[in-house]
Amino acid sequence: MAFAGRHVVLGVSGGIACYKSCTLARRLTEAGAAVDVVLTHAAAEFVRPVTFEALTGRPVLTSLWERDRALAHIGLAREPDLVIVAPATAHLLARAAMGLADDLLTALLLARSGAVLAAPAMNDAMYAHPATRANARALAERGWSFVGPETGPLAEGPSERPGRMSEPEAILTAAERLLLQRAPWQGKSVVVTAGPTREHLDPVRVVTNPSSGRMGYALAEAAYARGADVVLISGPSDLALPFGVTAHRVETTAEMQRAAQALVTRADLFVMAAAPADYRPTQPSAAKRPRADGGLTIELEATPDILGSLKRPKKCVVIGFALEVGGNGLARAQAKLREKDLDAIILNDAHEPGAGFEVTTNRVTIIRRNGEPIELPLLAKRDVADKILDAVEQSLT
Ligand code: CTP
Repeated sequence: MAFAGRHVVLGVSGGIACYKSCTLARRLTEAGAAVDVVLTHAAAEFVRPVTFEALTGRPVLTSLWERDRALAHIGLAREPDLVIVAPATAHLLARAAMGLADDLLTALLLARSGAVLAAPAMNDAMYAHPATRANARALAERGWSFVGPETGPLAEGPSERPGRMSEPEAILTAAERLLLQRAPWQGKSVVVTAGPTREHLDPVRVVTNPSSGRMGYALAEAAYARGADVVLISGPSDLALPFGVTAHRVETTAEMQRAAQALVTRADLFVMAAAPADYRPTQPSAAKRPRADGGLTIELEATPDILGSLKRPKKCVVIGFALEVGGNGLARAQAKLREKDLDAIILNDAHEPGAGFEVTTNRVTIIRRNGEPIELPLLAKRDVADKILDAVEQSLT
């Protein structure tokens, strides 16, 4: 959403991480941005301009001396909504910090007064060097934003220190946050629960459900992109933690309840997107139960109702989910909204094709305490997340 109709310059300097810039260019273009790629000479040694031209559908610029484009660097500095430099090598950071303008990319960076996002990538010793640290600090003081570098394998082998360029997903989220930042979300504290919980019968067997956590993870990502500080209380899930979001991992419903109650006290928005296990064995066994012929009967008891027992501060907006199957869902969801004293409840029907637990799409109805229900079409979960945040934005004070 953030990129549709936006103009982005992607500056690429010469490091092996250039291969990830191709994915970045493609993802920005797919998201609706007009992407002008500017390559340094070293970058063009790693990836030919024609690759970026094919990915963005736009001409790629590499030189200050191209015919008819004498003032390209001024236009490219002024016009775009965002300039991303990925990878930003040690040499590029040094030249930009010095104010050098000896090629198209550094010239446009010197002429730029709007937002710049840099994704450094270099050998770990080069990143740790005081010269690079000072250059990055100077650029940050002048308003540049940074994403990464991460710790992880470098081209020259494994490393314990930062140097590796952030993945395209993380750069996209950081870019989105710069483009989307909106006053109601700035500095707001958002807590989201996601995924299933797991209740042990014995050390190797559990009661759980097939929730993937996707809806909650998408909400956390969307809230971070708007400028909020986000904590995700996650039950067991294989999903990658969204960039910028702090994780609080739990296993059981009781653990999720403790984490939710502790974190809600500082929250401006609390979203209960998790699917906690509603039952747990009355007598979990500390040792593995031997397999017995003739079956096994287990007595279950209800787990705590997290939303129902939540003590929230007055200012905190609370959103719940209602998973209903079959008719009358709207009335049942409205009843849950009242009983659990929620500001909004998101109704989804687990039996509708494309909606529910294990899929990447969802079809929901947003029911607010005040106002007509908002019935949404089938959408990607990230788009559903944005619609939900739009619907409560006005309630954030
Ligand atoms: N929820 C909760 N604590 C639980 C179970 C569910 O806080 N132990 C939350 C869910 O995260 C959701 C809301 O309560 O936001 C409604 O969940 P749902 O499963 O639809 O309803 P229940 O309250 O469990 O009621 P029922 O199963 O009878 O429909």
